[in-house]
Amino acid sequence: MPIIAPSMLAADFANIQRDTELINNSLADWFHIDIMDGVFVPNISFGFPVTEAIKKHAKKPLDVHLMIVRPENYIDQFAKLGAAYISVHWEACPHIHRTLGQIKEAGCKAGVVLNPGTPVHMLEEIISDCDLVLLMSVNPGFGGQKFIPSTIEKVRKLKQMITEAKSDTIIEIDGGVNYETGKALVEAGADALVAGSYVFSNADPLKTIEGLKNL
Ligand code: DX5
Ligand code: ZN
Repeated sequence: MPIIAPSMLAADFANIQRDTELINNSLADWFHIDIMDGVFVPNISFGFPVTEAIKKHAKKPLDVHLMIVRPENYIDQFAKLGAAYISVHWEACPHIHRTLGQIKEAGCKAGVVLNPGTPVHMLEEIISDCDLVLLMSVNPGFGGQKFIPSTIEKVRKLKQMITEAKSDTIIEIDGGVNYETGKALVEAGADALVAGSYVFSNADPLKTIEGLKNL
């Protein structure tokens, strides 16, 4: 069964406690937390106070996705807030090996994110250092975008790399995930699926999550 991580970017921020409890009571596994700085991506989402508000009510691990420049400057603060996973963009980290070490030293699981235009072979030297690899299946910055189909082939390549390295790295996918794309992704080797608008725009989010869980 895939790990399901609803993106809180698509939640109702005026009812953040209600939407956090909705996920607590669902079959979802993690809370996906999208942090955008308006520099690395062309949008600003939210930062520490909102993350803290979610954490206060969350009964499942926080999966923090940093779409920011200089993520190394903010790792300790997200770790202190109680993040379980912290993922940084390969494109934002000239010293990715050091940054992964920093995340682990802070007591969190370490993830690397690849934009759609970044090939998976960029991870060859560090795959065993990654607890998680997050493949973007849209260009980061906004929820509700269309899934980029070439991601399926990227998942296969990444799965092969992980198998060859005898690593237990989790493959997570983010962007445009719904029942159809989710099914293809799981068949290709994805372990975890992020879903924002597909979950929260639905009249029955619990059932939508259940559908993804039973893919
Ligand atoms: C995009 C974010 C995603 C986004 C997913 O930059 O990283 O997590 O919220 O939203 P959907 O599932 O609507 O594509
Ligand atoms: Zn995300």
